[in-house]
Amino acid sequence: MQAKVADVACFQQPPHPHEHITGALPHFVAVLPVIISSEADCDCKTMGRPPLYGLWGGVNRNVKRRHMQVQFKNLEKYNIEELFKNVKTPCYILDEAAFMKNGEILKSLQEETGAKVLLAEKAFSNFTLFPLLSQYLAGTEASGLFEARLGREEMPDKEVHVFSAAFRDDEFAEVLKYADHIVFNSVHQLKKFGPIAKKAGKEVGLRINPECSTQEGHEIYDPCAPGSRLGVTREVFDKEMDKETFSLLSGLHFHTLCEQDADALEITVKAFFRKFGDVAKKLKWLNMGGGHHITRPGYNLPLLKKILTEIHKKYGLQLYLEPGEAVALNAGYLATRVLDIVHNSGHNIAVLDMSAACHTPDVIEMPYMPPLLNACPITDTETVDPSTEANASSDAQSFKSVISHDAQPHKSGATTPDALTETMSDLFGDVFGDAIDDIFGGAPNTDHNPVTRSRTFRLAGPSCLAGDVIGNYLFDHVLKRDELLLFGDMAIYSICKNNTFNGIPLPSIYLLKQDGDLELIKEFSYDDFKGRLG
Ligand SMILES: Cc1ncc(COP(=O)(O)O)c(C=O)c1O
Repeated sequence: MQAKVADVACFQQPPHPHEHITGALPHFVAVLPVIISSEADCDCKTMGRPPLYGLWGGVNRNVKRRHMQVQFKNLEKYNIEELFKNVKTPCYILDEAAFMKNGEILKSLQEETGAKVLLAEKAFSNFTLFPLLSQYLAGTEASGLFEARLGREEMPDKEVHVFSAAFRDDEFAEVLKYADHIVFNSVHQLKKFGPIAKKAGKEVGLRINPECSTQEGHEIYDPCAPGSRLGVTREVFDKEMDKETFSLLSGLHFHTLCEQDADALEITVKAFFRKFGDVAKKLKWLNMGGGHHITRPGYNLPLLKKILTEIHKKYGLQLYLEPGEAVALNAGYLATRVLDIVHNSGHNIAVLDMSAACHTPDVIEMPYMPPLLNACPITDTETVDPSTEANASSDAQSFKSVISHDAQPHKSGATTPDALTETMSDLFGDVFGDAIDDIFGGAPNTDHNPVTRSRTFRLAGPSCLAGDVIGNYLFDHVLKRDELLLFGDMAIYSICKNNTFNGIPLPSIYLLKQDGDLELIKEFSYDDFKGRLG
């Protein structure tokens, strides 16, 4: 059976090793009614990781359940081909219903704990959504003048917080116009700008560095990595702080997490109070930064609530969280079409009308592979070991191992080899064969299985950059030119980071309204390219 990517409402998988289906390979089961059960989410909770590529729904005796990948859950009620047939690709599509779902979680967190949640604009700053988001959030968090202004203009009745690694003399007066809270990164900056800020009636804060790393393997996202410029360590605080300067302060700020759960916050909070508890006791508020993956399925919300409630009770501090991702997680898509298909060293390469370098720069910077509707990302490092526990396990166990290892957080880099090994063997068993060997990173495609080989495509952009590659994906059919593909989780760190390298146009931005209307928010033209250049 061959299905068009956009025809299907759920991910069509090859049969599970334990599923008995007659007929020759490849077996693609006809699309069954999609039952999105909460099982994935529940299981994830114990695993601490989301079913980000939540693929195979498991087989429960006679009942087959299939989970639409979690990033696309909100689209399950639509015929995707129909929905997007008139959009000009590439384009981003913001999903109003998904924002509301995230917003509800964040709102109830605030109501239950008294903590305030701000949108970190660096992750998502499409202000068309700001009136909606202001119903759920306490305000915005900016990284400098322009974001502060945007927050003030587009969420006018809400709080504007600004943190910058270093404020500029020629901007600070204007920052004061928009900000309610100003957080400095050094005692020197606090001494320099704090008195003016305080005089202007602003809440003045200092970012501290609790020197507690809870993430491994990607220093680029770890503000506590040795040598970090972000935040004042206790040693420096003691050396540079004086009484007069301290009197300017009304709060402290730390930001140490990245796509992490509440257990990492718990560790950080302990380190913070060990190092700065005596200081915090004398102040009014504490901002605990971003990186809290609060709206991710399986996130430990009860623990977060407990942490917030206990700190407030013990220290009387007003608490702030400023997540970016959690506000817009899984709330956007990037639609693209296949412009051409070329071949090299055994690879099928689809040249898309979107560019990783221009439209999803994090894919190259991190690097990571974004979720793609009805396709499975694959990397080069793993081999399928048929003797793994996953292959030998029951269906229920298999499902667990799929979702537990299936995490693909945006910033955390590509799916881990271990994760892929089990996930792929679970999903594809021996069918997968050599397909996952040596496919990424320039090695020839050594997949000897003609079926998987013909359905594995390297997705790449139209720019001149040889590395403008999104990655290798296994499809349930052979891709064709002009086909529509849909990347998921594309609201965060995408639109706000895009560029026109090679003169490639910026993608249009659509809003998928709750009622199913698709509204064009913004289109770009040659003028947007030229206007920035002279
Ligand atoms: C100071 C600060 N606050 C908040 C955030 C938002 O983080 P996230 O989008 O991961 O929640 C960041 C991200 O780098 C940050 O540097």
